[in-house]
Amino acid sequence: MPRVRRVVARAVTHALVGLEPRKVEVEAHLQPGVPGFAIVGLADRACQEAKHRVRSGVLSASLQWPLNRRLTVNLAPAALRKEGSGFDLPISLAVLAATRQVPAERLAGHAAVGELALDGRIRPVAGALAVAEGARRAGIERVVCAAPSAPEVALAGVKPVPVSHLCEAVAYLRGEIDAPHYEPFAEDALDGAYVPDLADVRGQERGRRALEITAAGGHNLLLSGPPGTGKTMLARRLPGILPPLTRDEALEVTRIHSVAGLLPPERPLVTVPPFRAPHHGASAPAVVGGGSSPRPGEVSLAHRGVLLLDELPEFRRDVLESLRQPLEDGVVWVARVGGNVRFPARFQLVGTMNLCPCGARGDPAVECSCTPQRLAAYRERLSRALLDRFDLAVSMPRPRAAELAAPPGEPSSVVRSRIEAARERLRSEPPRRTEAASALLSDAVDRLPLSGRGRLRVARVARTIAALAGSPLVEEAHVAEALSYRLPAELPS
Ligand SMILES: Nc1ncnc2c1ncn2[C@@H]1O[C@H](COP(=O)(O)OP(=O)(O)OP(=O)(O)O)[C@@H](O)[C@H]1O
Ligand SMILES: [Mg+2]
Ligand SMILES: [Zn+2]
Repeated sequence: MPRVRRVVARAVTHALVGLEPRKVEVEAHLQPGVPGFAIVGLADRACQEAKHRVRSGVLSASLQWPLNRRLTVNLAPAALRKEGSGFDLPISLAVLAATRQVPAERLAGHAAVGELALDGRIRPVAGALAVAEGARRAGIERVVCAAPSAPEVALAGVKPVPVSHLCEAVAYLRGEIDAPHYEPFAEDALDGAYVPDLADVRGQERGRRALEITAAGGHNLLLSGPPGTGKTMLARRLPGILPPLTRDEALEVTRIHSVAGLLPPERPLVTVPPFRAPHHGASAPAVVGGGSSPRPGEVSLAHRGVLLLDELPEFRRDVLESLRQPLEDGVVWVARVGGNVRFPARFQLVGTMNLCPCGARGDPAVECSCTPQRLAAYRERLSRALLDRFDLAVSMPRPRAAELAAPPGEPSSVVRSRIEAARERLRSEPPRRTEAASALLSDAVDRLPLSGRGRLRVARVARTIAALAGSPLVEEAHVAEALSYRLPAELPS
């Protein structure tokens, strides 16, 4: 009787802890014993289900499945939690190497990531960019992946080997075919999704001005007022006046959107500031991130861009309160089995709201019909601590008929060029205040009163206003304008 040897073969991939890739060695052990197939090494359910997909995929590809032997796949290190279906492809390749159907030496120079369909086709998985970045850091130069993942792999600085079927991966590793062709995409030909233009907004000069300051300084903005005055309309035009992302920022944002599975195939690199506008019914995990295998929330999807909370008081109180920490730190920590995961969350917050539940407040032509109780309950929903984080608050009155009939306002492109100039100035010049400006700020701390955070925020807004004016000094008038955007008296408090 022929002796069955014990064989081990390895394939490399990366697991993600949040956005961070961790190297995983997939070891396929073939040994004599009771025939069977087990996956060990802290694999979650999607990973365990790989057994069925891998076996079925291998057989559909007319390859041999090891019979009469015990097959164990170990995902090492065992202490690291493995989530998702991206391990299918590396598991298949390790099994095929253990059964000598692909050369182990050649497989060693590659990483692999992808889900297997039962018929052996290879599907893309979320987070391919971060996985490929892990491969690059591990010194691996080629990543076998599904064709739609290839642009992300290329962005990581490694060579994609895009395959559509397990057969193709095997033929390539055996040297029977060349690496399937990958045509790099032209990064500078990418554009963002369609963003509406500021030219559409009639009148509302004060709102427009506040939007421009918000964009130039990366501030947070609260727009309040009666219904139908253009609050939502104006807020949606903020991303269109923000400068495009730098290449590093683009990669950072793309990594997050890739992990969330939200990268559109036709735009594999996010080059413009993201814009997120979750519905007011959204849960805290959806907004700040979370879930059993932690996903980035809206605050992280809005990283380096804009988070619009339209109808702010309609959001759940716990959701609003959970925004306070990322607004301060620019990151969120999401709880997960075995420790917390960090996601970046440096976004600009824009909120819109009516001044009372019936919406009439702030409109001189209509009488508010809200009972004191309803009004009090409405005010309850927004904590002072949250409101304090809005650098600018503007009430938008009902536009007069003449304003609505006026010719279109400045287009976004013109406003954006002023913002780019101001940003350049903010980067290059240290802020200096005139004595009068400092005196006005100190005076406001007592008079308004301003919290410590409030004072800092007013000072920053004043600096942005000076930069927009092309002034090397922050002057009294700039502080005065910044102070005029602190919460107006009629806002619920
Ligand atoms: N200043 C404006 N310039 C041009 N169109 C406007 C203006 N204000 C309102 N509109 C028109 O009214 C519509 C509703 O405006 P929008 O949704 O922005 O109001 P809103 O202030 O957000 O109201 P609500 O408080 O009910 O949410 C817009 O889609 C637009 O057609
Ligand atoms: Mg609205
Ligand atoms: Zn009312």
